[in-house]
Amino acid sequence: MAESVLSIRDLRVTFQTQMGELCAVRGVDVDIAAGEILGVVGESGSGKSVSFLAAMGLLPATATVTGSVMLDGVELIGAKKKLVRSIRGRLMSMVFQDPLSALNPVHRVGDQIVEMIQSHQKIDETKAFARAVELLEIVGIPQPDERAKQYPHEFSGGMRQRVVIAMAIANNPKVLIADEPTTALDVTVQAQILEVIQRVQQSFGTAVVLITHDLGVIARVADSVNVMYAGRNVESGSVQDLFDHPSHPYTRGLLSSLPQEGIERLVPIAGFPPNMLAPPPGCGFAPRCPHVIQSCNASLPSLVPFEGLMTSCIRADELRIGGLRS
Ligand SMILES: Nc1ncnc2c1ncn2[C@@H]1O[C@H](COP(=O)(O)OP(=O)(O)OP(=O)(O)O)[C@@H](O)[C@H]1O
Ligand SMILES: [Mg+2]
Repeated sequence: MAESVLSIRDLRVTFQTQMGELCAVRGVDVDIAAGEILGVVGESGSGKSVSFLAAMGLLPATATVTGSVMLDGVELIGAKKKLVRSIRGRLMSMVFQDPLSALNPVHRVGDQIVEMIQSHQKIDETKAFARAVELLEIVGIPQPDERAKQYPHEFSGGMRQRVVIAMAIANNPKVLIADEPTTALDVTVQAQILEVIQRVQQSFGTAVVLITHDLGVIARVADSVNVMYAGRNVESGSVQDLFDHPSHPYTRGLLSSLPQEGIERLVPIAGFPPNMLAPPPGCGFAPRCPHVIQSCNASLPSLVPFEGLMTSCIRADELRIGGLRS
């Protein structure tokens, strides 16, 4: 296996809240190599954003983060703020769902990219501006030299998201984290933004973490995938293996909720995820699982290798033999 540029081990995040301690991330591992696109999927509240905000050092002071986040051989958990700040936006950067919140309305987009470049590189204004124009071209903005002089409100939603991606890749990061970068956009624009992300990954060998609710997006662009549920990875592996023979009942539920040819309606998984203020001692999916048995509730199942995947279901083998792969 290629060496990981980002390697996360046993990441745990708890928040102090007025209701008590909320366990948002409960032991997550991530590995991603240069040039790879890792899809992270799971329903709302499963800990996708919090995991990667923790890796970026962007969580509020109410969060306690433990575990290890190694970026290109450098440990970020517990590292000095100055080091984390010097890495953020340079070696690792993040794109969010809402492009407007990432842009300053009163500054021209070119100047915002220049600022991003100059915050990490000693480079004069003229050169940085030329680089900003080049970046706008890379992300597919027509007439980039004109557009660089315009303000965010002069851009459509999709074009703004391209600008945000240009800012995120301005310093050639090794890892680009895209947190639902297309959710706020309409379908054709979504496809264009995914193409831009793929182009970045192919041209610069950037490792991309693509967080999404949408398994269809993962199938189209990702190489590997982590399925998250209740703050844990419940299954991970190559996209091909995962779609070919999903083993965890939650993954199977997600896949069967994908619209298929001839079937118009989604089949949602019944029930709700557990309350993370008091997560159950056993498998988080057990209360919703069609194959639950008593021992599922006893302790947290760990990820174990199963048919080319890593799966955290104690019944994976049995369900396969029993043909219960519904
Ligand atoms: N700042 C915070 N303070 C307290 N709890 C938080 C905070 N941020 C997130 N959480 C909680 O942490 C859990 C994980 O949230 P997270 O945002 O990672 O979910 P997600 O998988 O990204 O969901 P979505 O798909 O809706 O974006 C949720 O229970 C959420 O309410
Ligand atoms: Mg999120």
